[in-house]
Amino acid sequence: MRPFKEIKANYYFTKEDEDRLLRLKPFMEKRVDRVVEALYQWINATDAAKRLFKDESLIKHVMKLVRIWFISLFSGKYDNAYYDSLIRIGQRHEKVGVEPHFMNRAINIIRNACVDILCDELDYIERDQYIISINKILDMNLDIIISAYIEEEVKGYSVAYKAKSKVVRFGEFFAQLTSFSLIFGLIMLTGAVIYLCGRDLYAIFTGKLEQTIITALGSILILWVMLELINTEITRQKGGKFKISVFVGVALVTTIREVMIATLKHDTLEFIGALVVSVLVIGVIYWLVKKTEEERK
Ligand code: HEM
Repeated sequence: MRPFKEIKANYYFTKEDEDRLLRLKPFMEKRVDRVVEALYQWINATDAAKRLFKDESLIKHVMKLVRIWFISLFSGKYDNAYYDSLIRIGQRHEKVGVEPHFMNRAINIIRNACVDILCDELDYIERDQYIISINKILDMNLDIIISAYIEEEVKGYSVAYKAKSKVVRFGEFFAQLTSFSLIFGLIMLTGAVIYLCGRDLYAIFTGKLEQTIITALGSILILWVMLELINTEITRQKGGKFKISVFVGVALVTTIREVMIATLKHDTLEFIGALVVSVLVIGVIYWLVKKTEEERK
């Protein structure tokens, strides 16, 4: 499967789309029964679709799930958990034989119902942007559910594909495990930095004010960068972008701290000079990386 980030980029699905969908949530929640009813009526009127359900209670059960899915379209939160839930729908549909053309028709019914609701709730000037955002989220849903369906089907008859997907799944699991270990490691290191800050602050109160105030400042800088590192890793876990600038920031802050300590220890001028040049070089790299990241936003 293509990564969710790539699919969002393909559909030009932006933060503005997310906000617009979230704004629609109250209208859509109010009218969800009308949407589910439209799908239910179509299934009941279509023999091939109805045959997929062994009894009426199963249709009702699936309609309850469709209701939850529909409301989540307007949650404004489209992270990896959301993506996985769509993959599971495609996989389940493949298992029970819900062919992709049923899904196409279902999404078509839901799209029409959404447009109807927007016509009732909004005036025509503001409607267009909202319709575009709804179309994007529905198309992405359809894309993911059908791709998962096809992938599941291909697995059934291709041994090579089955082996490849097992390797990929193991790789994904391993990457997840490494990420958790990374966050855990960062938390431990942050603990160590807090200890460092505490020690420096203690030294301030026990007399060596002038010297330790500077080292304490350096330790606090490092603590701040550690928090940035943890936040970056958590954001990446939630499907956000990887920020190289944070890592360059770590190098920058550590070197600044070294400069402070070297000055206090009255190290040689050459050594302090070399550190200052390093700060300047890393500073320029930091500025360039940060600028590029801002432009790509
Ligand atoms: C937007 C449209 C649809 C959504 C969001 C949707 C969602 C779901 C979900 C969440 C499940 C349960 C997945 C799981 O067990 O993990 C499911 C199962 C199922 N869906 Fe759909 N579905 C849709 C359309 C359809 C259509 C059009 C049909 C039939 C023509 C259908 C037939 C079924 C069946 C038979 C099951 C298996 C129920 C069971 O045995 O547990 N679905 N669907």
